[in-house]
Amino acid sequence: MLIPIILSGGAGTRLWPVSREAYPKPFMRIGDGKSLLTQTHERALAVSGNTAPLIVTNRDYYFLSRDELAEQSVKPSYLLEPGGRNTAPAIALAALWAMEQDKDACMLVLPADHLIKDTPSFYTAVRHAENLANDGFLVLFGIKPNAPETGFGYIEMGDKVSVEAQVVKRFVEKPDSVTAGKYLAQGNYVWNSGMFCFKASAILDAFEAYNPKLLEGARQVWNSTKADGDKRELPASFTSLENISIDYAVMEKAKNIAVIPGDFDWSDIGAWKAVAEAIPADANGNTNNNCQTIVIDSRNTHIETKERLVAVIGLDNILIVDTPDALLVADKSRSQDVREVVSRLKEAG
Ligand code: GDD
Ligand code: MG
Repeated sequence: MLIPIILSGGAGTRLWPVSREAYPKPFMRIGDGKSLLTQTHERALAVSGNTAPLIVTNRDYYFLSRDELAEQSVKPSYLLEPGGRNTAPAIALAALWAMEQDKDACMLVLPADHLIKDTPSFYTAVRHAENLANDGFLVLFGIKPNAPETGFGYIEMGDKVSVEAQVVKRFVEKPDSVTAGKYLAQGNYVWNSGMFCFKASAILDAFEAYNPKLLEGARQVWNSTKADGDKRELPASFTSLENISIDYAVMEKAKNIAVIPGDFDWSDIGAWKAVAEAIPADANGNTNNNCQTIVIDSRNTHIETKERLVAVIGLDNILIVDTPDALLVADKSRSQDVREVVSRLKEAG
């Protein structure tokens, strides 16, 4: 049984002012399409043979998520966090949940905020991953890099473990751009997509080996929960588990890991530049997210607006995001720095 585990963490701070705590990134619609969460759910069902996914998310997003997925043929279950603790605690609890469904279950961990255009290649990669996972591997999905991005983890690949997969020599989380440029030129590095496939029993064994304290805490948390319809609420003690990513907690230490260098079109929609790249552009490289604009003598400009018409003249490489109570105007090349705005807002209370 392949159980999709959808991690729906929270606000992508670089997508302010659209992505916010009350309306985080998985609920964003790109182009005239469906929300990222809906798209992820549909991909999950397509590869799981309609086994219902488990969504691990903050309890504040339960109703929003249910509404968002109300039209889906198969409805997910929910594991509700009282607060975010990064991906390792979420995955440990999801593994305990999966074991209860099926001791032999394979988990396909999918972040809720990724955009994948070439779904057939993705599905093929998942089938390979599932085979390896059934052989006991912890499988990572790599993405062939096309730019020296600094927002991703990089994986150095070694020898082949099968026709499709390679061993992981090492991880480098979010290198600086000079280092990222070297990895790109070397050719034996892929981005860590943040998607994984492993047996629930195998990831629990890895927690036992590399972070037994976290596993012990997760088991205690799990034992004090019970199912309630389609949801299971985690108690407040969840927030005292170590705040650590699965990459640091397990993947960087485990020996039985393999990476599948995916060659599908993938984006984690990390910042506005990535949103613009995901949308078809006009002849001058201008994009807008399905909204009303008038664009005159401008190039490479991206506009988002919900309620108002936005007209621009003579712009080059500019990003404009208009919402009823906040307006962002930025150079597109600075779209990673939008998180700075959010920190200033938080400082100001
Ligand atoms: N449920 C839940 N709870 N989900 C979480 C939590 C949490 O506390 N924290 C993060 N997530 C989800 C996020 O919503 C996102 O979908 C995914 O886990 C990854 O978390 P990010 O916070 O976005 O990580 P990152 O972008 O800094 O880095 C990771 O992803 C990159 C690819 O997008 C790393 O794995 C990098 O190595 C990787 O390249
Ligand atoms: Mg991310």
